[in-house]
Amino acid sequence: MTLPGPWRGELVVATDSDLDPERPIRFRRSFVLPGQVTAAQLFITACGVFEAEANGQAVGDHVLAPGWTSYHDRHRVMMHDVAGLLVEGDNVLDVTVAEGWYRGRLGFTGGRRANFGEEMGPIVHLVVQLADGASTVVASDASWQWATGPILRASLYDGESADLRLTDSTWHDVRVVPFDTSVLFLASSPPVRRIETLAPASIETSPSGRVIVDFGQNIAGRVRLRLPSDPGRTVTLHHAEVLQEGELALEPLRGAAARDEVVCGESSVEWEPAFTMHGFRYAQVDGWPGEIGPDDLRAVVCHTDMEPIGTFRCSDPMLNRLHENVRWSAKGNFVDVPTDCPQRDERLGWTGDLQVFMPTACFLFDCEAMLGSWLDDLAADQVRHGTVPPWVPYFELGPPLVPIAAWGDAAVIVPWALYEHFGDVERLRRHLPAMRRWVEQVAELAGPTHIWDRGLQLGDWLEPAAPSEQPWKARADAKVVATAYHAHTADLLARACAVAGTPEERDRYADLAAAVRRAFAAEYVTEAGRVVSESPTTYALALCLDLLPTAAQRAHAGARLRHLVHLDGHHIGTGFVGTPLICDALVEAGGVDDAYHLLTQTECPSWLYPITMGATTTWERWDAMRPDGSLNTPEMTSFNHYALGAVADFLHRRVAGLAPREPGYRSIAVRPLPGGGLAFAEASRRTPAGEWRVRWDREGAELTVRVQVPDGLTALVELPDGSPAAEVGAGTHELRCRTRAAADDPPRPGPLDRHGRPAS
Ligand code: BGC
Repeated sequence: MTLPGPWRGELVVATDSDLDPERPIRFRRSFVLPGQVTAAQLFITACGVFEAEANGQAVGDHVLAPGWTSYHDRHRVMMHDVAGLLVEGDNVLDVTVAEGWYRGRLGFTGGRRANFGEEMGPIVHLVVQLADGASTVVASDASWQWATGPILRASLYDGESADLRLTDSTWHDVRVVPFDTSVLFLASSPPVRRIETLAPASIETSPSGRVIVDFGQNIAGRVRLRLPSDPGRTVTLHHAEVLQEGELALEPLRGAAARDEVVCGESSVEWEPAFTMHGFRYAQVDGWPGEIGPDDLRAVVCHTDMEPIGTFRCSDPMLNRLHENVRWSAKGNFVDVPTDCPQRDERLGWTGDLQVFMPTACFLFDCEAMLGSWLDDLAADQVRHGTVPPWVPYFELGPPLVPIAAWGDAAVIVPWALYEHFGDVERLRRHLPAMRRWVEQVAELAGPTHIWDRGLQLGDWLEPAAPSEQPWKARADAKVVATAYHAHTADLLARACAVAGTPEERDRYADLAAAVRRAFAAEYVTEAGRVVSESPTTYALALCLDLLPTAAQRAHAGARLRHLVHLDGHHIGTGFVGTPLICDALVEAGGVDDAYHLLTQTECPSWLYPITMGATTTWERWDAMRPDGSLNTPEMTSFNHYALGAVADFLHRRVAGLAPREPGYRSIAVRPLPGGGLAFAEASRRTPAGEWRVRWDREGAELTVRVQVPDGLTALVELPDGSPAAEVGAGTHELRCRTRAAADDPPRPGPLDRHGRPAS
């Protein structure tokens, strides 16, 4: 479906320049329909975020529509069937608009306002069919009016305040503002919705006497209150992800006030802010009359309405919680745009965070349409700004925009991952130009040496050995990371061209990838197989991205990697870049047990340490909260960042053993990896062709693997006893082999000293 033509909706705005810019405005148009309505389609968007009503009834159930796109080039229009809401005779259409991402403050260190435009208002085109065959259009134009309503202020970061005693003020005529309607496009990805509500897990009084509600789960969303009739009473909500000494920890929110305030009116009502979003587990409630009870409020979980399609479970409750936390961090950060975090004054579409999380996201959720739309923004930003920005949609925040490895590489990795997990060749073809532009740009930066060693890099961001205040100072040299990624994305582009491009292009990028690999080996790999800036991440890159020319070098690098992981006492030693690869690299190096020791480590830093601290989402830093309960660098410590949760992909593919073998899971590779004392592991993934299921159980030294294959498809099953892989067809299969008993899985060795000897 496309937008109706000719498009008649204009941008209309309020005329009072003294208004508080954060005040949402209500726009209205009354109209008469001279006959019975047989069909009515409302095409609607806004410069800002909007909610609409037709004859007093809510239109749709979208939250923060039209979402966030690179508005300069792409401005999304939502379509609603409103036939059931319109009547013969008098009708009225109301649209309330708040600043949202379009004009509201965005970004860190104070951020910037009006990043996409100064004028805020709706753009509406309503097409109505009447029973007599006539059709009529009601579009936003000079005949609309505006007023202020009960919402006094709304900001994505700072929260919303409303006075429910207020009704709409006087209606004024609008002003029509020039707007380039050629950037409008019809939404084809799911909107943000209220997905579920959570009742309080507990309500406590803090040491300072505040009422603090714990919803038991860190989420993105807001709180819905059942307000009493108590005209003039002000109830205030503050939100936070964690507590410090029993009080809300507000420091990690930095410049986001995350504060909602409502003045009660005559009647008792359910109230929820409309135009803000918070990342929180706890809410402090001030001003409530008497004692607040568990039925008086709910946390409303909001995110892009993407279907959950993948599952994982095993016999270790802590790994299950880790996996659950990963799922919640995906939910908390897929709020129209894939963001870094949902709580502080940031919430940006950081490209590096997404690319490392792609295989996990695409296994767990049908995020294809959402991310496909985001990739269109990435391409638009890349053309407009001359490179792939570190966050998309991009707006300037001060530092000059330069290409950054592992972040800009999202231009290639994200579309390729979508293709691998959803199998749509046309979509891959659509994103090919942006993929090409990125690889060509990096090739030019690297020049004839093929070594990309200039410019600003973020490298293995947040590696635990990096100083807290300098997260880019990882052990892995950021330049080594940059060239490794160059080889990787040139290679992926060659593969993408093989599927959706031309043979000439495929050869060109395959040759480029080979040349970069040779250059990497010549520059950064010793003859024996050590890699410059030795660290778990450097070896993980070298082993997983095929950067080591000889078998001997691979073997040596693998041994070095295992040695380093032992030296680290099987504590995690990787940041954003190494984390998705480290377990695969260890398995590749013959260290299945080392991978499991890393996975099941509970001391800080590790994946399970946050679980021991009560985490319900993935943290930004391995030690965001230290064992003593203090926060590590509170001005950059989010408790809901998905990047380090990229390990869930390893849980799906290797621990349970369900990996895509052909694009879109048209075939899978079943390669279970028993270990870690696990008695069983299982995973499932739904596809349009049916559901895949893999489960293995260990009873003593017998391993039973069950595989469910959808009709018409096949799986390749490779058992861990080394027997030849077997192809199995549709149906349910049970395969058995001898394996090590769970009870015989080795315990984690103790820490080593710096010479590699057991530390006493
Ligand atoms: C964000 C990250 C991001 C990083 C890169 C941070 O502030 O939260 O997740 O990738 O900056 O500089």
